[in-house]
This record gives sequence, structure tokens and C-alpha cells, in this order.
Amino acid sequence: MQKCSEPVGFLTLDRRRLLLGLGAGLCLPAPAIRAAPAGSPHVRGDPFILGVASGDPDRTGFVIWTRLAPKPLEPGGGMPQRPVELSWLVSADPDMRVILRQGQAVARPEFAHAVHVELDGLAPGRDYFYRFETAGLRSPVGRARTFPEPGQEGTIRFVSAGCQRYEDGLFTAWRHIAAGNPDFIAHYGDYIYEYKALRVGADRRVPVIREMPGLPGKCLTLPEFRHRYALYRLDADLQAAHRAAPFLSSFDDHEVENDWAGFSSENEGVTRAAFAQRRAAAFQAWYEHMPVRRAQRPKGPDILAYRRFRLGDLLQVDVLDTRQYRDRQPCGDGWKVCPEAREARRTMLGRQQEEWLHAGWRERPVRWNLLAQQVPMMRFDRDPDPALVETHMDKWDGAEAARQRLFEAAAAARLANLVVISGDVHHNRAAELRRNFDDPASTNIGVEFVATSISSAGDGEDRPASAPKLLAANPHLKFLNSQRGYVLHEVSASRWQADYRVVDSVARPDRPETLRQRLVVEAGKPVLHAA
Ligand SMILES: [Fe+2]
Repeated sequence: MQKCSEPVGFLTLDRRRLLLGLGAGLCLPAPAIRAAPAGSPHVRGDPFILGVASGDPDRTGFVIWTRLAPKPLEPGGGMPQRPVELSWLVSADPDMRVILRQGQAVARPEFAHAVHVELDGLAPGRDYFYRFETAGLRSPVGRARTFPEPGQEGTIRFVSAGCQRYEDGLFTAWRHIAAGNPDFIAHYGDYIYEYKALRVGADRRVPVIREMPGLPGKCLTLPEFRHRYALYRLDADLQAAHRAAPFLSSFDDHEVENDWAGFSSENEGVTRAAFAQRRAAAFQAWYEHMPVRRAQRPKGPDILAYRRFRLGDLLQVDVLDTRQYRDRQPCGDGWKVCPEAREARRTMLGRQQEEWLHAGWRERPVRWNLLAQQVPMMRFDRDPDPALVETHMDKWDGAEAARQRLFEAAAAARLANLVVISGDVHHNRAAELRRNFDDPASTNIGVEFVATSISSAGDGEDRPASAPKLLAANPHLKFLNSQRGYVLHEVSASRWQADYRVVDSVARPDRPETLRQRLVVEAGKPVLHAA
């Protein structure tokens, strides 16, 4: 029998496979698991209060996730400090009448009793439903969907969203996203915010809609990050989104610390060693709460977060990591006119990720190449004087040479249809990516859709006062709005449609969503059209 190289906390025992004698490749723990069996008295209360999730699909499977935590805000989540066994079931119908697959998993205290089960052997391009059971209790049922195989793609519908500051507003947009049952949800990060408003109302323009109970002003340690994720995951709207569709999860800065870069804290005086410890705690908690694969389990302060997905011959998705390998923001971060931002050595992805990205573009042609990433790639000049380019150093503008390398590699690979999605700035934006932003006559290398926030920065405005000035300063920018919401993308062989959906308030509950702007790109022509 194959010996496992993975920690036993991740092992699943697929009994059906075992019965069928397909033991080859099956991982069994050694030594034997001493887990509390299902039905044991070790779990008190509802252990599934944090819900279920799925993520990182491929053609034949996906990850299903839960975390056993009957008291999620208490240290240890209200669980015994020992492994607990649970079972999982997969069906093709939401009522789970016919069980297609089932197996056992073990939730371990060293991973906060989170469970990641990687399923395979399912059919491509299909909906599946799943749930967990332990101690005679059942989790809610979640829906996932496998990615299509070539010839089966049809139209892919997916959402890009992120930036969900708990205090700033309600997660109403997540409920609307859940109702739409997209094929997948690309989360660009700022899933949590590591700090909290210390003086309610005093130092903020945005009212505090929900106060965060307990624990410190800023997360630094594993128990603190776990507490923050647990609080967020108790939100019913966010849970509904995780139940509704698989996520492609990534992180930006606030999963660790505002504007962190590599091993640098935003604050002077934090040593590399101290920041590495914080990164390790932050990544551990991120992993524990995201439906990602074993390959994304952190190793100390390092995590492999960039990865590739393929949806038939229609869409390749490269999820990027623009935090872990980047250079520190030049000129002291913030809005700057900064010659250093143009230095050739500067990087956002690091050499290895850059090479991986460029090689992936050359492998097999695909209709649309999507970069699912965090901070805006477009030039965003806030100074109306054409002679002065004042940009934000935390975005791709802070590493112009890195952006240029990416554009030139896309051109060399003859990518016909490059689409970038991002977030971070709490504004809806759409722009054409000019191969040379300094040349108004430059051709477009692709388009970018920046999604606003779920709640961060509060209600926002339909038409910010600065919009005319910003649109004039950035001729490639075609749309700007600062209400809360998300982007729904519909992708077919002939066109890419992006719907900017917004809610008018995140301070008041149950607000409906409206379609604020529809933009369309025809395949082969990287130009934005309002529709
Ligand atoms: Fe944010």
C-alpha cells in the first residue's frame, strides 16, 4: 500500500474505491488514525456552523471544504484537541438522493479541524452537490461544478469579487452572487482585514456598520487570524456564496498586512524574521479557511498561490500572486511621481512566476487568456496634467518594467485575447491595456476589468466627483464607479461580456442589485464597447 507523504490530516478514505479494489494510489494514514468516530460524544453543538465550500475545480473534480467548529469564536473552535473523523458524500442532485461518491476524512486540531477533500473521477462540465456528516449531524449541502472539456464549453459564467471589510458594510453582494449560481467565483483577495477600527467613527469617513467583537486591533498570531476568519465565515451571505459555487481563492495584502511586499512589513522596524512569522500564521489561517488543494498548504512563511486552470479550449485562467515575490513599493509607497517605478529590475511576480506565466501562454492555444490577480494592472494617473504621471506605488504602476515585460511576452506568444481581472481599489473600473501607456496611439494588448469591493469603503457613489478628471487623465479608462458589488463575466468563443452589478447601500440590509454597466469585448479585438 502506498505510504502517504502528506500529513494524515488531509487524507480521505474513499470506501467505494476500496470496495472496488482500486487501491493503487490510495493514501492511507500510518500509523492508524485515532480519530473520534462519527457519532462520538466529542463534538457538542453544531460543528458545521461555519458552513461548507468548494474550490479549484478541474475537469474531473474539485476540493470540498468544511471546518468543524461548534464555537468558532472560542480558542480551539469548541472542539476537543484531538482528531475527529467525519464523512463526506457527493451526489448529482441537490437533495442528495443518489450518492455517487462517499468517504471518510479526519479533521485535525493542528489545522483548526478544517478538512480539504480533493475529489476526482467525476464528469466534466457538470453540477455536483456535497455535504459532510459527523456525530450524527449533517452539514448544509453545497454545490460545485467541474470545468468543461474541449467541445463542451458553451458560455462560461463567473464572478470576480473581493474586498470585504466586515465593519464597512453588509455582504449583500455575496447573496446576489450566490443566487446567480455562477460556474466559479474568482476572489481577488482582501477576504479579511487584519486590523479593526479602534476608535469607532472618530478616524473614519465610513460609518461602522458592524462592530467586530473581541480580540486585538491587529491580527499577528495564528489564533488571532483564525478568530478573524471565523468571524467572517459566520456571515450568512458569504456562506451562501461558498455553498453556491466553487471559488478560485487568492490573497492580496489584508490577509497578512496592509501593503506588505515580500518579507517587508509596511511598518519600519519589523525584522524579516518577525514578518516571516506573521506571514506563516496568516497563510496557515488562510489555508485552513479556503477551499484550496494540498499543493497550497503553506510551508512556514511560503505558500504556492499562483496556479493555472483550463476550461476546455475556451478559457485559461492564471491565478497570480502579486504579493509574495514583489519588490517593495518604490518612493515610499502611496501616490507618487516616481522615476524609480520605471527601473528595469523591478518585479511584481518574481522571476520564477514570470517564467511560469510566459511558458503557460506558449503551451496550447486557447481562445481567452485570463489573469486573475489582485492589484490593477492599468496605468492610473490621478494628475490631470499630461506631463505629470502620478500613480500609486502599490499597484502595477509601481513596477512599470514588470508590466511591460508581461505585455511583451503576451505579444510574443501572440495572445489574441488577454483579459485581466483585479480589485483592491474599491472602485469599479474598466480599461483597455495599452501596449505603451506613454503613447496615445499605442495598440491594445488586452482589457482589464477591476471589480469594486463587496463592502470596503462603505456605500460609495454612482458617479464620484473625481470621475471626469480621472477619465480625462487616463484615455484608456472607459468606466469608473465606486458603488459596492461585483462583476459577472459571460465568456463565449465570440465575445466577453462583463456586467458591473451594484447595490446602492451596504449600510441597509436586503438592498436589491442593479446592472450598472455592461461592457463587451469581441474576440480578436481588445476594445471595450458599452452595451
Ligand atoms: Fe481592499
